[in-house]
Amino acid sequence: MTQENSAGSVTPASREYPAEVATASGSEWWRSAVIYQIYPRSFADDSGDGIGDLPGITRRLPALAQLGVDAIWLSPFYTSPQRDAGYDVADYCDVDPLFGTLEDFAALENEAHSLGLKVIIDIVPNHSSSDHVWFQEALASPAGSAERCRYIFRDGTGASGELPPNNWESVFGGPAWTRTTDSDGTPGQWYLHIFDSTQPDLDWQNPWVREQFKDILRFWLDRGVDGFRVDVAHGMIKAEGLPDYTPPADSGSMGGGTVGLEPEIGDHTDGPTPPYWAQEGVHEIYRDWRKVLDGYEGDRVMVAEAWVEPLTKLANWVRPDEMHQAFNFSYLETSWAGPAVRRVIDTSLDAFTGVGAPSTWVLSNHDVVRHASRLALTAENPQGHGVGPASPGQPNPQLGLRRARAATALMLALPGSAYLYQGEELGLPEVIDLPDESREDPTWFRTNGERYGRDGCRVPIPWESDAASYGFSASGASWLPQPSDWAPLARDAQVGVSGSTLELYRSALAIRADHNLGLGDVQWLPGYGDSVVAFRNGDVTVIANTGDVAVELPVGDVLLTSAEIHEAALAPDCTVWLRTS
Ligand code: GLC
Repeated sequence: MTQENSAGSVTPASREYPAEVATASGSEWWRSAVIYQIYPRSFADDSGDGIGDLPGITRRLPALAQLGVDAIWLSPFYTSPQRDAGYDVADYCDVDPLFGTLEDFAALENEAHSLGLKVIIDIVPNHSSSDHVWFQEALASPAGSAERCRYIFRDGTGASGELPPNNWESVFGGPAWTRTTDSDGTPGQWYLHIFDSTQPDLDWQNPWVREQFKDILRFWLDRGVDGFRVDVAHGMIKAEGLPDYTPPADSGSMGGGTVGLEPEIGDHTDGPTPPYWAQEGVHEIYRDWRKVLDGYEGDRVMVAEAWVEPLTKLANWVRPDEMHQAFNFSYLETSWAGPAVRRVIDTSLDAFTGVGAPSTWVLSNHDVVRHASRLALTAENPQGHGVGPASPGQPNPQLGLRRARAATALMLALPGSAYLYQGEELGLPEVIDLPDESREDPTWFRTNGERYGRDGCRVPIPWESDAASYGFSASGASWLPQPSDWAPLARDAQVGVSGSTLELYRSALAIRADHNLGLGDVQWLPGYGDSVVAFRNGDVTVIANTGDVAVELPVGDVLLTSAEIHEAALAPDCTVWLRTS
């Protein structure tokens, strides 16, 4: 069964992108880099406590160099009570003993650099842990004191201040304010926490806070890091007067959208700006940070975790004097449907190119349902809510993996920089049936189990098919239970196995590098049906079939295919790369 298709020959048509990305000098490594996210607690555990650590990462780095990525991004490993898996930082300039020491970090960085991998670390400026000495001092100091002004303390409303200062809700569910108790035992002021109550928001209007963070940047830049992933980079400034706000029903937890059935999902139109997201004042902070980075040798970079739509607005984060990159969550949230995919690619390239920045592409991370499951969900799923045993729209695992492989093959052919999340190269699905008692995401607790949260994408990854905890930990321990059927997905079961997901990623990265796709452009190819995404990037023709009938392939050497090709027909949910003249 082949679909009519007039594309016997492959002639590029219509739009080309005269992108600045194409003129990037070789030293601007980040413009085309493939960056691999390591979630330290779930990558590799050398100490045997069931939680991954820095020495484990160092030992396993050669596997990432073999995969062919250019850089690693490490999620937080700082001193932390781990109430939000390390995104609750109690000391920004030290390593939590759970993960190792500063010496272990230096060893990791040396090994990465000697393997040719850049190292990006996470910085969490919107909030600290409530264990941080800054917050402890604030609590111990009176209302209006300099210590309190580091955070956002306010008097309550109601006759005796018994109601929170406004109606804001925490991203993780429940109110965004917690009341303090004064030293004499009476109820005191309230403090703001856009996330968990153990993550008080810092007051970025306070110059003291700004100075602290510039010192923190320098601390790590002096230690040789190549850059920072900036957590909640759209949240640090709140609207004057902290006005009440009720988010629209369909917005995801971080202000993004929902994934599921709707074909046009991806880049939402410009809606009302919540008073705690995307305030103009954040840009001044990044311009200031950029000056700090530019004072260092080498190409040190910042990437924004900013859940901001539409993309034309997100592009403000990557203007020439701000950050270098921003995660493209509009792309991540786009459903597997030709028109939506083409639209988000066009919009992304236009928006980022318009400010001289590369587009980025991402399909998975530690906050979203893994794309090997997400792309087969049959019900809407707001970002951050996760999938559990009782969720509607359970994914078909085979369909999910097939689509994930096709979506990744499409993504890695696009110009710009791509982000991979540990385990996606193994085809790992979301772990849906985690026992309730093992869940740790604050979302689960703050919603009384109404939202499953993000644990399902954070399960320790499998390295060896026949080892205890699949080689994750020498002791066989694992902080979240691993599924019993992951042996075939273990890295050692896929290395060198033709057709395995790992080999698909490895080949895609090698061909991407050989053909310089990261610095190329997108030229749409005419003559295909609506559900087919077909373009040329340099001498590579990419065709992705998101529909449900096969598509006739043009003549050309197959460089890469996400599933087997029979009789020159591209089956549904398959992507192919062809070399055409
Ligand atoms: C970011 C992190 C997420 C964390 C939140 C609060 O969105 O990616 O994991 O929970 O910020 O720091």
